[in-house]
Amino acid sequence: MPGRRAVEERLPSLREELEVDFCVVNGENAADGAGLTPKLAERILDAGADVITLGNHTWRRPEIGPYLAQSERVVRPANLSSHSPGRSLTVRRTRRGTDVAVVNLLGSLFMSVAQGPFELVDELVAEAHRRTPVIVVDFHAEATSEKVGLARWLDGRVTAVIGTHTHVQTNDARVQPGGTAAISDAGMTGPHDSVIGVEADLAIERMRTGMGARFRPAAGDVRIEGVLVECDDAGRASACEPIRVPV
Ligand SMILES: [Fe+2]
Repeated sequence: MPGRRAVEERLPSLREELEVDFCVVNGENAADGAGLTPKLAERILDAGADVITLGNHTWRRPEIGPYLAQSERVVRPANLSSHSPGRSLTVRRTRRGTDVAVVNLLGSLFMSVAQGPFELVDELVAEAHRRTPVIVVDFHAEATSEKVGLARWLDGRVTAVIGTHTHVQTNDARVQPGGTAAISDAGMTGPHDSVIGVEADLAIERMRTGMGARFRPAAGDVRIEGVLVECDDAGRASACEPIRVPV
């Protein structure tokens, strides 16, 4: 996968250039565009991710289950079934010694969830707060309305609400009035000469015909996309900048 290769080759130097103290990678599409395997998770962590988050494709690779059951650095959405393995909140220490909590949640619009995100998020944030004021929420969701709504609901209670899943970086990176950074979608690390990562011809053929053309990852115009958040020790954000780095 070009996106994963870009992370392995470029993330270490990018972390140094941007002076990144803590790095969260959404890895739900790392395994040929669907799911994550234990081996790929380890490679992304070795490349410089502190924590990996997941999404609606969490269970596409069944071997991830036992791995999630014991991992403290790979989290899955809190509102998948409570009978499934894995944690949805973790706290890790940055290079400079700050504890950062990472929370992963799915949106409810056009997604299959065991519970709505608003049902769960307050307790998750309260649990995170008992351990650290610096809290990052990966809100993996389809609709900008739900993403903007959750970001606003959490304003002043978490450091950042970062949207993922739609692959197209949105033009709304901001710090809200209460000090919570937010963006509706951090974008896609992968080949942008494509239809959200898939060879364009194959994706269009499926859309035009309704027939199941087999998808292949595209190759051209590979970029690392994401968002850079600055905050103080109290977890209050002061800057939120989208990044888009050609590889
Ligand atoms: Fe997704």
